[in-house]
Amino acid sequence: MNTQNNKTIGSYVTDDYRTAAVFEKYGIDFCCRGNRPLKQVCEQENIDYTGVLAEIENVKQEASTENQNFRSWPSDLLADYIEKIHHRYVEQAIPRLTELLGKVTAAHGAAHPEVYEIADLFRASAGELTKHMKKEELILFPVIRKLASGSGKTMTEPAFGSIQNPISAMLEEHDNEGERFRRIENLSNGYTAPGDACNTYRLTYQLLKEFQDDLHKHIHLENNILFPAAINMEASVKA
Ligand SMILES: [Fe+2]
Ligand SMILES: [Fe+2]
Repeated sequence: MNTQNNKTIGSYVTDDYRTAAVFEKYGIDFCCRGNRPLKQVCEQENIDYTGVLAEIENVKQEASTENQNFRSWPSDLLADYIEKIHHRYVEQAIPRLTELLGKVTAAHGAAHPEVYEIADLFRASAGELTKHMKKEELILFPVIRKLASGSGKTMTEPAFGSIQNPISAMLEEHDNEGERFRRIENLSNGYTAPGDACNTYRLTYQLLKEFQDDLHKHIHLENNILFPAAINMEASVKA
């Protein structure tokens, strides 16, 4: 079978992160659900597959520093990068967005009640993501670093058994947060502030969008690159 026809959305983004913008534009989930073949998704969702392929080719021609080849990185370096760039970003963005959402709901909640729901969803996401990242940092990533350093053969079996177990749990949590942010995106009309919005309101939506974009990249790096590499490393240690 033609490999182009089976190529997954996640592997387009792994090959070149700039293609993520094309998938965002068409509302195609490339991170949590990146393991589906692009052609199949286009057929199911009535999207012009040839048009999407042409746009992918176009963005790949554009000069950009966005396309780091993360797939070529050792897994321990990628785990460090995710922790220091994406986890740290989430930790720093949460208090700032919480404060801004407090101001926006107080000033605009009466006229725009959807901001209450957005604030509730963000609060739930912040709590879940904080716990999620701690599980990665304290349980999963240390084992990935051991496997990457080549000391996998001598390490004692982790309490969680196969690495597939914590990875499955992490994938499920990624799906939950991806879904929660889709609801925020819909409620905020794609992060478009209403005509009477003040600058704080606009800034809040802009930062929420930035948070979602960062989350998509973060989940993509884990789901499509780091976790499959960890599963392969574990299999070769056990072989
Ligand atoms: Fe993470
Ligand atoms: Fe994660």
